Amino acid sequence: MRILVLSDLHDDFWAATQRDPFEGIEPLIAGLDHLILAGDVSNKPKVRWKHAFQRILRLVPPERVSVFPGNHDFYDFCIDDEDRLRQIAASFGVGYVQKAQIHIGPARFLCATLWTDLELGRGRVINGRVAAERMNDFRAIRVASGGYRKLRPSDVVTQHHDHLAWLTEALGQPFDGDTYVVTHHAPHPDVLTERSEGLDAAFASDLREVIATYRPKAWLFGHSHSAIDLTVGATALRNVSLGYPDEVADPGARIRKLIFEV
Ligand SMILES: [Fe+2]
Ligand SMILES: [Fe+2]
Repeated sequence: MRILVLSDLHDDFWAATQRDPFEGIEPLIAGLDHLILAGDVSNKPKVRWKHAFQRILRLVPPERVSVFPGNHDFYDFCIDDEDRLRQIAASFGVGYVQKAQIHIGPARFLCATLWTDLELGRGRVINGRVAAERMNDFRAIRVASGGYRKLRPSDVVTQHHDHLAWLTEALGQPFDGDTYVVTHHAPHPDVLTERSEGLDAAFASDLREVIATYRPKAWLFGHSHSAIDLTVGATALRNVSLGYPDEVADPGARIRKLIFEV
């Protein structure tokens, strides 16, 4: 079974430059058994997920595509209205896999956005303050249940604990096959290539204990747009992001490298 897990498609940015990241690799994409979009499909999802799905579904049938959101998929939208995202995906026949597992051949894929605990480095309070000042998430994402107020660092931490609780519960269930974890945010500080005091914590959490306890075959993530592969104990940590058009000279080559067999 040939699988592509791809995060950070940022389809709206590619559309704005009139470049197609799948150009030249259409037969490869058409031959996939499954494609998981691991967040940052597009800003403004109520309007723009449609374009992203149309681009992808020209190549691969919807029953072979699954999606869950990254932070950008909540821009100009609300963090607590995932029913709407699920509906948009369903209207195209695409599976919505937030806190959900997919079984493909002999493997299972445990999918969730994850967010972060904001703890790396100087701790949650200081990191939260820096992140709120410098990350667009805290201006572009709203909380419907809070009267459409702006997102706060504490909302992110709450999401993280909820997603992590689901994930560890799922990892603890016995499974006779390989387990892949797929998240948008990163599970380990060593995968951050460009360190930025105070903002690292918005990109990764230190989940070394979870990795050591459950030993998944691989943990695939994105959010930071830097290709990195690392092995920690029995687990391959792999950044599967595409990234913005100005960051990627040859998107086809990048995507080709991310296709793997289970
Ligand atoms: Fe991204
Ligand atoms: Fe992201």
